Amino acid sequence: MQNTLKSLRALADATRLRIIALLEREELSVNELQEVTRMGQSRISTHLGLLQESGLVRSRRDGKRTFYKLNRDADVVAQEFIQLAVRGAREMPEYSSDQINLKRILTRRNEQAQVYFNQVAGRFDRSYGPGRSWQAFGHLLLRILPPLVVADLGSGEGLLSELLARRAKKVIAVDNSEKMVGFGANKAKKNGLKNLEFRLGDLEDPPIDAQSVDLVILSQALHHAENPARTIQSAHRLLRPGGQIVILDLLKHNFEQAHELYGDRWLGFADSDLHCWLETAGFKKIEINVVAREEEPPHFQTILAGAEG
Ligand SMILES: C[S@@+](CC[C@H](N)C(=O)[O-])C[C@H]1O[C@@H](n2cnc3c(N)ncnc32)[C@H](O)[C@@H]1O
Repeated sequence: MQNTLKSLRALADATRLRIIALLEREELSVNELQEVTRMGQSRISTHLGLLQESGLVRSRRDGKRTFYKLNRDADVVAQEFIQLAVRGAREMPEYSSDQINLKRILTRRNEQAQVYFNQVAGRFDRSYGPGRSWQAFGHLLLRILPPLVVADLGSGEGLLSELLARRAKKVIAVDNSEKMVGFGANKAKKNGLKNLEFRLGDLEDPPIDAQSVDLVILSQALHHAENPARTIQSAHRLLRPGGQIVILDLLKHNFEQAHELYGDRWLGFADSDLHCWLETAGFKKIEINVVAREEEPPHFQTILAGAEG
């Protein structure tokens, strides 16, 4: 059958006009249409089937539910039919009650979400929410990273370097473990990260030209340095004017086993020590905060220090 004839046939029924007028306002499920019109499910489904066949209405699956809406991509003639149908529906006695019922259902839809969020407000950030994770937030924040040249000192096998390389102009990852460097370099190659270069070297004297990078990162690496103050001075030397240093480390703790268990040289740092070393090296705009505290004993706390070179 021709499209025009199909549309005419589809609209030659009062119920289908009512449905068109309802879908003009909002995408609706069969259940919702049932509630608004007080009609049985099979009747509604039959009407929707005809409207869909005529191309005036479209459907979308969402899990077990199917939602229907007007086909906004339909041709000009179909759009005109839709407008006519809506006008016709407005003249029907059921129109005003349909619209009142629709409003009620839409309000309830919004309220369902609101009830949940009102209940969890205050503990939401500490509770599980599908898709919400620090990992995801990390990726989001990376998106706004400008294309910098980054030195990741004590990079390990490059978890952070790899993330940064997806946005940075270049990342130079330095580590003094041959195995870490070898493993990291292979992984970067396998992942096609041409702007990530691993170099074998010491973080106290990194094999990087002076004043050649925009950002130096020391993530859980400074407490391995023999001389942390000297390491921070070296980092300053690598930075272009206005460059930044970011240090993630552990706040000073008493968990002696960290020497053996994790090969740590220092049991974290007091923020005053970090501040002093940064200032002595020539850094400005120093900011130091504790940003995380582990739930499990010995309750390691992570300290974040940032400053401008
Ligand atoms: C705890 S891991 C941190 C890895 C990485 N930055 C991260 O946050 O996932 C410390 C890394 O520093 C490296 N490292 C220790 N002492 C170093 C030094 N003096 N020079 C360069 N790298 C060093 C180790 O080989 C190790 O890969």
